[in-house]
Amino acid sequence: MPNETIEKILDLARWAPSGDNTQPWRFEIVPDSRIAVHGFDTRRSVLYDFDGHASHMAHGALLETLRLAATRFGLRAEWSARAGCPDEAPIYDVTLTPAAIAEDPLVRHIETRTVQRRAMRATPLAETQKDALAAAVGERYTLRFLASPGERLAVARMLWQSAGIRLTCPEAYPVHRDIIEWNARYSADRIPDAAVGVDPATALLMRWVMRRWERVAFFNRWLGGTIVPRAQLDFIPGLACASHILMRPAEPPAGFADHVRAGAALQRLWLTAASLGLHLQPEMTPLIFRWYARAGREFSAHPGMANRARALAARFEGIAGAGENDAFSFFCRVGHSRPPRSRSIRKTLRELLRNGVH
Ligand SMILES: Cc1cc2nc3c(=O)[nH]c(=O)nc-3n(C[C@H](O)[C@H](O)[C@H](O)COP(=O)(O)O)c2cc1C
Repeated sequence: MPNETIEKILDLARWAPSGDNTQPWRFEIVPDSRIAVHGFDTRRSVLYDFDGHASHMAHGALLETLRLAATRFGLRAEWSARAGCPDEAPIYDVTLTPAAIAEDPLVRHIETRTVQRRAMRATPLAETQKDALAAAVGERYTLRFLASPGERLAVARMLWQSAGIRLTCPEAYPVHRDIIEWNARYSADRIPDAAVGVDPATALLMRWVMRRWERVAFFNRWLGGTIVPRAQLDFIPGLACASHILMRPAEPPAGFADHVRAGAALQRLWLTAASLGLHLQPEMTPLIFRWYARAGREFSAHPGMANRARALAARFEGIAGAGENDAFSFFCRVGHSRPPRSRSIRKTLRELLRNGVH
């Protein structure tokens, strides 16, 4: 098979989403129609990458996007995680085989799917839309829709609580400082400030405050610095959507490959939402703080953070009707809106290829 075909597939696959647009993958084209995807995770530098789960989910989203992209060229793509690789640097071997398959209808949404962090219309989802979303994630996962005004208010309050932890936790500060590209509408390796979801005046202030942790801490302590971002990024969007969606696995994850599979399912969910004219925003931070809390793991030297995370976890479980040991894979909101005018784009294929351009 010509390398040009493989490059076309990878050129589409690189549009898969990843937490904070980290793109934790590099590609290697190997002889005999194979691709080695070299994954990595950011658990050592990013608070939100609990045990690499967020990166593993991104790997799954990438592999699923690659599988879908291959159908455009009449190819079946199948992946397996190479034995013996550490979870922090998994290698996925992908084989491409000619097959009598038509282009998957989700392929045309790969490049246009994008995160919407702003308020959306709360027009309820139709039953047919809910059914399509539930079918998209397959039988390993169930979806719980939290759509009534009361449920959205409960989630918005929970997001407010979660944002309180996120914005005052010193260990989260370097992540926030490094992932925003300021004065940008598009960003190839981060999130442009215009896509963060705050108004321009707040963005300007945030930019100045976020240069130094001391400023952040001072603003938070004396000037109610968390109120405006919490309202704009968490509480208002929490209310202004058609539904929140909690994706739960039928079986608790037994290893990193289960997080990869969850990532494949979330990408099918997201692309299906896009095909239905809906926008989506992942809301992973409460779920991540819950992972820390339920694993009994400290994530901050700041006193009280662990207790706040436990309280958040209990509140989340109350909303979800779940117990402490129940697994949650993915949490997001969906709704109707115009496409965002700012978004993350991607590194070029040349930058993502380990063995250069063919
Ligand atoms: C596993 C995962 C977790 C994510 N968590 C969040 C999140 O908690 N909040 C958020 O606003 N976006 C979240 N995102 C969205 C990414 O930031 C976004 O997909 C990425 O920046 C690329 O932008 P795009 O989706 O517009 O192409 C997440 C994406 C993935 C794959």
